[in-house]
Amino acid sequence: MKKLFCLILVLCLSLAAVSALAETGITIDNIRDYVVGLDTPVKLSDGTSRPLINFDNAATTPALKPVLDEVNEKLLMYGSIGRGFSIKSDYSSELYSSTRKKVLKFVNANSEKYTMFYVNNTTDGLNKLASALITSKDDVVLCTRMEHHANDLSWRERCKVIYAEVDKQGRIIYEDIERMLKENKVKYVAVTAASNVTGYVTDVHRIAKLAHQYGAQIVVDGAQIVAHRAFSMKGETPEEDIDFFVFSAHKMYSPFGGGAVVGIEEVLNDHMPTFYGGGMVELVSDKEVSWKSAPERYEAGSPNYPGVVGLGKAIEILQEVGFDAIQAHEQKLIHRLIDGLKKLPNVVLYGDCENVDDRVGVVSFNFSDINSMMLATRLAQVGAATRRGAFCAHPYVWRLMGIADEDVITFEGCIDAKTPGMIRASFGIYNTEAEVDEFLEMLQKAMEHVKNNLTDKDEDIPQEY
Ligand SMILES: Cc1ncc(COP(=O)(O)O)c(C=O)c1O
Repeated sequence: MKKLFCLILVLCLSLAAVSALAETGITIDNIRDYVVGLDTPVKLSDGTSRPLINFDNAATTPALKPVLDEVNEKLLMYGSIGRGFSIKSDYSSELYSSTRKKVLKFVNANSEKYTMFYVNNTTDGLNKLASALITSKDDVVLCTRMEHHANDLSWRERCKVIYAEVDKQGRIIYEDIERMLKENKVKYVAVTAASNVTGYVTDVHRIAKLAHQYGAQIVVDGAQIVAHRAFSMKGETPEEDIDFFVFSAHKMYSPFGGGAVVGIEEVLNDHMPTFYGGGMVELVSDKEVSWKSAPERYEAGSPNYPGVVGLGKAIEILQEVGFDAIQAHEQKLIHRLIDGLKKLPNVVLYGDCENVDDRVGVVSFNFSDINSMMLATRLAQVGAATRRGAFCAHPYVWRLMGIADEDVITFEGCIDAKTPGMIRASFGIYNTEAEVDEFLEMLQKAMEHVKNNLTDKDEDIPQEY
């Protein structure tokens, strides 16, 4: 009886999903109609108001209206997941597990080999994964110098980490990865699919092949790829398959918490995360605990239902807009911004700005004669959202800026105007070429403003970077 009920639920959910898809007709050209808060005015420092130009999408993305609507609608049927005895509880539990299938499909993962567990975000996912996979302080993980701290410190604090270098333009040196795999007994290679500083897209399947050749497995940080390019766990050959993939929902237009770790089921079942609680156990006695298998063993605690609902809907919308269209649109924006920036005096652009085919929509820059903190602050005051600093990828940023490690130690926090940093403009699928043009105008005015408004107080602030 329960099975029949579940079957009917699944059918209803699938029909609802199909009809929702058929109705929306969302494309890259009309996506602005579907973004929450795009037209909401914010109060500027001069007392006027205007909507933001939001070029801070690598940090987080606004919600899409269909995602918000879906969360609101599905909350009407919210009940405890995997724990309750009620119709709402059954409904929520069913939606929770059917979204797992959607996530697996999204990253082209064969459900006979892979499973997925929900997490709060990429940082949470990488830490949970590392807590399970690392079994000794002597385990060796090979990272790169391009990594966000989430995919560096979560390993560095648990075992021995060695790093493959990046070249002068900031691209990963693949030969270095191979050399280090040859010279060390590496257990895992942990690498980002796309950089949050330069937007470079990593050839993760090439690295997977190398890792497997030398007996290692590969963990891919997908935080910056999921909203920009289609991702496949499957390579052209089985050796190129990805073993683990981690990403956040808030970077793909569903800011309700949530994210996923996709991984090989058998391997996950051979390990235990160091994160404990209810929901992950079959039975607990005074002395013994029997653990559930993956994915539940990785999901202690009550699940984040809105996060899961939002993630599922965001996947649908991104697939509907289409990653080819997203990539083509983003490339136009990158070219336009870089071309405009190149015309500004004393600009310093990071990463390869001639060949940008392997970059997602992230452009980092600063000026050799203006303090980037003051400039980003001014941009914020006039309604342009960027990020400034070293973007939680300090070693990578210092390398790109040519700052030696000995000097880095003297910077505290990297958020102060006295510390070096870059300004990052990062695009979402809804940004336009007109916004890029307007941003460039705002930038020029902001540069003049900063230069013309220096006071004695600013004397000890370096007027560079
Ligand atoms: C490449 C990369 N990895 C990991 C993260 C961490 O993501 P979250 O803050 O969602 O945990 C980020 C966040 O900016 C990122 O850009």
